[in-house]
Amino acid sequence: MQQTVIEQLESIFRQAFCALGIADTVAIGLQESSRPEFGDYQVNGIMSVAKQLKLTPRVLAGQVMDQVNSAKRNSGNIIDMMEIAGPGFINIKLSAQFLVAYLGGGLGQIKSQQQRIVVDYSAPNLAKEMHVGHLRSTVIGDALVRIYEYLGHQVIRRNHVGDWGTQFGMLTAYLMEVSKNQNEQLELADLEVFYQKAKIHFDADSAFAERARVCVVRLQAGDAEILALWKKFVEISLNHCQLVCERLGSKLTLADAVGESFYNDLLAPIVKRLLDSGVATVSNGAVCVFLSSSDLGMNEETPFIIQKSDGAYLYATTDLAALYDRVQNLHADRLVYVIDARQTLHLKQLFAVARIAHLAKPDTVMEHAAFGTMMGADGKPFKTRTGGTIKLCDLIDEAISRAQLLVKERHPEWSTDEVSALAQTLGIAALKYADLAKNRCSDYIFSFDKILSFDGNTAPYLLYAYTRINSIFVKAGLSLSDFTSLDIEVVEVEEHRLSVHLAKFSERLLQAATENYPHYLCAYIYDLAGLFMRFYEKCPIIQIPDPMLRNKRLSLAALTARTLK
Ligand code: ARG
Repeated sequence: MQQTVIEQLESIFRQAFCALGIADTVAIGLQESSRPEFGDYQVNGIMSVAKQLKLTPRVLAGQVMDQVNSAKRNSGNIIDMMEIAGPGFINIKLSAQFLVAYLGGGLGQIKSQQQRIVVDYSAPNLAKEMHVGHLRSTVIGDALVRIYEYLGHQVIRRNHVGDWGTQFGMLTAYLMEVSKNQNEQLELADLEVFYQKAKIHFDADSAFAERARVCVVRLQAGDAEILALWKKFVEISLNHCQLVCERLGSKLTLADAVGESFYNDLLAPIVKRLLDSGVATVSNGAVCVFLSSSDLGMNEETPFIIQKSDGAYLYATTDLAALYDRVQNLHADRLVYVIDARQTLHLKQLFAVARIAHLAKPDTVMEHAAFGTMMGADGKPFKTRTGGTIKLCDLIDEAISRAQLLVKERHPEWSTDEVSALAQTLGIAALKYADLAKNRCSDYIFSFDKILSFDGNTAPYLLYAYTRINSIFVKAGLSLSDFTSLDIEVVEVEEHRLSVHLAKFSERLLQAATENYPHYLCAYIYDLAGLFMRFYEKCPIIQIPDPMLRNKRLSLAALTARTLK
């Protein structure tokens, strides 16, 4: 367990600031340098402190540097060189000694306060098949889960599937119908088609529509016959989701699917509790929570409706119940919802109501990890050519078959099996990586050509970079895993820059975990691959006769490969 580089520098400069009598609330302004030719890190805070203390910034910068230098014995020589720049910045270059010791300690084993985090993600509605709209939540949610777990947090996954509501009346009524004709299995083979057929039937046949409505009532009343049909349908749909999740290499299991129906018994008590405490009021027969702009952090008139005038509960009610369950029964410290940005208001309202109704604890962290929409080339939400929804399994299939063409083109001599195996990895990686590499908040234009390109911040490029490093070891008859520590100092500029970047891994990991931004890590590994390529061009590895030097460079290569992996 170690501190990140920036934390270590922070404490050195904090001590220097303190020694000069500067209050510890004053920002040091420590940052990664944007110009590596001048230094690895930079202190930006001097100018504003100097202004407060009525000192010349460059003079104060000099005093800070003197303090750091005189304390250097205690701080273990992290810093090789410091320099005043411009009006009073301090540029810092890390020492080779420090880098060797730091990188020798392994990958990102950093201290962070352990939390119990519930991550709500994927969450399709089970009435239909998973479609393209579920890709982002599934992929981003899973990346966040892995990031938190890597940092030692306790993570509980929740796939809040939509398995309740009026559509299930229609679907069970239709299932009853097709069971009569005994082609049930066939009908259920494609849930999308099943849904469409049921809907057409519902719209065209009023007697069927009535039967569907009766089914809803019976389902909600816990009628055994309808419940059994509902269970059958939900099970088939869940198994289908599980297959898709597995294809995507997601950590979600069937046990993580805790759907809306699970919270049924909690809904009435929640509504009662909110009414009793005066948080909710009845308005036009519906039970509503009206939130002030200070509760909500924005101006919004729309109330949070938790029970309709006909007595029905809503999406919002279930979410309150689920939140309560996660806080009270799962003892979550932090709740992360990986949901489409179009639900931003819903989540703001949910969190605000949870706070004022004390369903969450005062220190429960509640976060909406929102994401934008996947767009087609036309800048509109990604659809099939005929304007239909794209099934997620079809999207995966297409990514793999396109990857297949690409691999074949590059390796005409390969066997079909070899081509298929690589295409499988490449296609799925491309799909997932394209999603992770973008800032999740923005919409993005999806293009198979772009995500499968070997140039730029893409999965093929990074897989290629990783393979290239591996092949250095293979060609030399060495094993990458034998190179775990760095024991001689980095000298060349390219070695230094690569090492500094490697040492930043834990920083980026923490940032990604704190802000729920997987793309920080993608940007990081993309830069890492680039820095490695530059290092490899300038610094021969295998050809170098000096065994010490060769081993050092092999260690840097091995560390890069492990970090990429
Ligand atoms: N099933 C919902 C949908 O498809 C998403 C659920 C997200 N999770 C939640 N707790 N609301 O829109």
